[in-house]
Amino acid sequence: MQQPVVRVVCAIGQSGQLGLNGGLPWEGNRSPEFVADVARFFDITRGHVLLAGPKTIASIPAFARGDRELVVLRSHMDPEDTLKRFAGRIAFIGGGPPVWDAYARFVSHWDVTRLPYDGPADRWFNPSWLTKGGEVTR
Ligand SMILES: NC(=O)c1ccc[n+]([C@@H]2O[C@H](COP(=O)([O-])OP(=O)(O)OC[C@H]3O[C@@H](n4cnc5c(N)ncnc54)[C@H](OP(=O)(O)O)[C@@H]3O)[C@@H](O)[C@H]2O)c1
Repeated sequence: MQQPVVRVVCAIGQSGQLGLNGGLPWEGNRSPEFVADVARFFDITRGHVLLAGPKTIASIPAFARGDRELVVLRSHMDPEDTLKRFAGRIAFIGGGPPVWDAYARFVSHWDVTRLPYDGPADRWFNPSWLTKGGEVTR
């Protein structure tokens, strides 16, 4: 196998909100849906490779750093060559948006939770990521 299985697990607000001021827009919300979403992210990615931009990797809490392989993606890295390093494994592409712009074409499974948040954001989900790499026009 030349490439890993490439997956994404992310959470968005009702309008596609992804991030705000370097964190999650709903940061600090202790309602069950929000707490469960973060727990689910760490459950699903446990034991696998999590590749993401520098800010997203920096936001991974200490408790989650020991039981998954974290890889910082930089814009000078070639996506295909980078993914080849993890052939045979499950690689989660953790964002943020410029990273998904570059890696979406390799993703076989998007797991998007739509949370009950509809406030401000400065990072947004782009639905065109879901079809990136397809070439047929309607
Ligand atoms: N809701 C969610 O599920 C979710 C998930 C992830 C992140 N977020 C949010 O998103 C925000 C962080 O994302 P961010 O985009 O601001 O910062 P980021 O995570 O650091 O990702 C963007 C950076 O990745 C690097 N990069 C790596 N490969 C690249 C490529 N091929 N092309 C372009 N850039 C590439 C670039 O940095 P260099 O040019 O310096 O290499 C770029 O500035 C936070 O608010 C965070 O909470 C939300």
